[in-house]
Amino acid sequence: MSAASTPTTFVFEVLTLFPEMVRQAVSHSILGRAIASGAIAVRVRDIRDQTTDRHRTADDVPYGGGAGMVMKVPPVAKCVRSARAAAPGAPVVLLSASGRLFSQADARRFAAGTGLVLVCGHYEGVDERVAEHYVDEEVAIGDYVLSGGEVPALAVLDAVARLLPGVVGNSGSLLEESHEGGMLEYPQYTRPAEFEGHGVPEVLLSGNHGEVAKWRKAAARAKTVRNRPDLAAHLPPEPEPKRKGAGRPPRLGRPPEGGGR
Ligand SMILES: C[S@@+](CC[C@H](N)C(=O)[O-])C[C@H]1O[C@@H](n2cnc3c(N)ncnc32)[C@H](O)[C@@H]1O
Repeated sequence: MSAASTPTTFVFEVLTLFPEMVRQAVSHSILGRAIASGAIAVRVRDIRDQTTDRHRTADDVPYGGGAGMVMKVPPVAKCVRSARAAAPGAPVVLLSASGRLFSQADARRFAAGTGLVLVCGHYEGVDERVAEHYVDEEVAIGDYVLSGGEVPALAVLDAVARLLPGVVGNSGSLLEESHEGGMLEYPQYTRPAEFEGHGVPEVLLSGNHGEVAKWRKAAARAKTVRNRPDLAAHLPPEPEPKRKGAGRPPRLGRPPEGGGR
């Protein structure tokens, strides 16, 4: 399908001081194909194009002193204004280590719209007036500090894009992914059935779809309890097992009967 024939192209506007970082990253794999098919458009804006001095200065020393440089308001504000005009109605999100934590629910909310504007900070961050007056939301992708907003913007862009129609080949798989329904995804395995003594749960080789489904449900719960007790605390109580045996999830990574380590 050509880009021109796709009626609903979701538009991402990415505002950055390092446009090539973003252009490069979105040109591969699922995002690259989504752009080629017209399911999404990614427009990258160089914030420095909005500077007015001959050195294209986009940052300055912090008021009150301190280490590092702070991104100036005027070029960012002007760049946001241009992006808003080009993507009317799209929420404008500043990537920030001190923002609210981004979640799958946010990805779904953004994907329900027609576009998204992502503003990348760099250096010591962005003059706070941008967060206060020029963007709609301020989000962090985790409780850690990265060097710039480009990687976080790409994370958000990717999370949103894969929820859009025509981006992921098998959209059925999205329903079972981690963080859909408050649980992590069940463990996945592929061939070979045994490698260096490590087998895969036998039920997955049984061809019994009912038992596989039961095992996956239980294994997803077990993994959520083990890796994310914060999520597990919100799960409904576990249903009573109907019978012992095949439906019970084996310990993850356990070799098949007779398989040594
Ligand atoms: C080095 S960081 C600035 C950190 C800032 N001085 C602080 O302590 O909160 C530079 C830029 O990277 C981005 N960034 C860093 N960590 C992030 C995170 N966890 N989530 C979202 N953006 C992040 C933001 O755009 C930020 O302006």
